[in-house]
Amino acid sequence: MNARGLPGLAPNLTDKTWLHGDGSYDFIVALVQKGVPKPKQASAPMLPKGGTNLTDEQVRAVAAYVYSISHPPKP
Ligand code: HEM
Repeated sequence: MNARGLPGLAPNLTDKTWLHGDGSYDFIVALVQKGVPKPKQASAPMLPKGGTNLTDEQVRAVAAYVYSISHPPKP
């Protein structure tokens, strides 16, 4: 809910902690495309594109969304 994850299932995407890379937009795009075959904390993998059939454009859009909620603008 609200991209905050669920322990054992999926990570919080709104914080500054990145388990699989640097949190950059390019990292997020690549991760969503590929999924996470070997999770570090969750008990099951993330499928490519989260198990959806998003287009490349939709993957870029959802990655931009994830980037925006994890990199709030400074006041
Ligand atoms: C389009 C939808 C999704 C997006 C945009 C997305 C995005 C991400 C991102 C950016 C990460 C990397 C987080 C990090 O490095 O800390 C991640 C990891 C992960 N996601 Fe997703 N995800 C999606 C769908 C899902 C779904 C449906 C599941 C399964 C219920 C899932 C399970 C996971 C798991 C297990 C990890 C790795 C956690 C670990 O290593 O312990 N994701 N996801």
